[in-house]
Amino acid sequence: MSAPEQSSESQESFRAPYGTHDVLPPESARWITVVETFARRASRFGYGLVMTPIFEHREVFDRVGASTDVVRKEMYEFVDRGGRQLALRPEGTAPVVRAYVQHRPTPPWKVWYVAPNFRAERPQRGRYRQHWQLGVEVLGVDDPDVDVEVIALAHGFYRELGLERVTLLLNSMGDPESRRSYVEILRGYFLDHADALGPEFKERVELNPLRVLDAKEEAWQPVIEQAPRLTDHLSDDARRHFEAVQQRLDALRIRYELAPRLVRGFDYYTSTTFEFTVDTLDAAQNAIGGGGRYDQLAEEMGGPPTPGIGFGIGIERVLLAGDAEGATQMSAQSCGLDAFVVDGIGDETATLVVNELRESGLSADRAYGGRSVKAQWKLADRSGAAYGVMLGRDEAGRGQVAVKDLESGTQIEVPKAQLAGWLRARREEGSDAP
Ligand code: HAM
Repeated sequence: MSAPEQSSESQESFRAPYGTHDVLPPESARWITVVETFARRASRFGYGLVMTPIFEHREVFDRVGASTDVVRKEMYEFVDRGGRQLALRPEGTAPVVRAYVQHRPTPPWKVWYVAPNFRAERPQRGRYRQHWQLGVEVLGVDDPDVDVEVIALAHGFYRELGLERVTLLLNSMGDPESRRSYVEILRGYFLDHADALGPEFKERVELNPLRVLDAKEEAWQPVIEQAPRLTDHLSDDARRHFEAVQQRLDALRIRYELAPRLVRGFDYYTSTTFEFTVDTLDAAQNAIGGGGRYDQLAEEMGGPPTPGIGFGIGIERVLLAGDAEGATQMSAQSCGLDAFVVDGIGDETATLVVNELRESGLSADRAYGGRSVKAQWKLADRSGAAYGVMLGRDEAGRGQVAVKDLESGTQIEVPKAQLAGWLRARREEGSDAP
């Protein structure tokens, strides 16, 4: 009873969708390291966790980028059973600003998140249809000190993970007035050169000349390189803000490169923008994080005028960068079990011992299904546990258990009542070791 076509179709159905990936143990241990490092760091900087739905009303993303591919071409949109137009979150900022406008928490509102984002891009290494971001957003303060705090948070995070080859690119998009007049200057400049460069160039210039600044097309580069720079057209306020950010980054000894052609992929950016890149990944996927100010977004979503700034860091790219640099801080460690319990009795003793160890804060595992003692020792060896704990009838008669150091193979007997304390003492000795 074979139906080959059907079966190959169903084989395809039971695979992760194109451009997505599963994260399984032991690889997932690296994710725990990355997320925990970020969570601890964000909390030290005074940020609280925010969680928003993975889908929103489509309108939430309208202001993110009417002229950007992410919103125009790559959003996963759907209509729910109630006829609502919804979209899977393509990025993290708009939902957080929507939540701010909805709940009106007291500013400054400093939050961090870890969340999946969805973009129907052409998948390649470091570019996926579902990717995960760690990020922060701060609403309600336009002080340059906040820009510096946010950049320092990300900068030190990469350091904590052992990434050394990270470059910080810094730019300013100016305030709305300086930006508007600059965009017109830029449009005029590009249109003067449009005939030589063809209809696609012209179309993009008409839609948003800023988008042309970061275009990758070889033929356009000579024109782009000579284009007027926004940082030469900043208003006095915008220039003072940008200079203060640079001066305080200098004070913190955070190195950066000024990147006047850095145009981040969303329409909401104003003032300070930045990106962290690595030279160890392909140019098209070498941004391991980026962000900036969006001082108009809350108002555009119907809230009070509220400046904002934040960044998003791609977890998959951080891990790829870690592989490329051989950063051991992110390497998948063994599960770090304190003990693997081998059951030579066959009654409820093993259940009780494993439970007691776990409830007392130790990590412990066991085999199931009545395996032979020999097979259980094999599993113990493979488990990566520090000790194997043998529950045998003879030892039990004397109130003892046999404990074997799985690395050296040495074995001793320990009173059963003291097992948890004994294992904890060994763990503490181990963590004191140089
Ligand atoms: P973004 O630059 O689009 O910014 O994304 C942030 C980071 O997410 C990128 O630097 C990259 O590491 C990662 N990333 C983006 N797209 C993909 C993908 N398809 N596959 C794998 N990784 C990806 C934002 O999303 C803004 N919300 C950042 C922000 C926060 N700006 C202000 N606040």
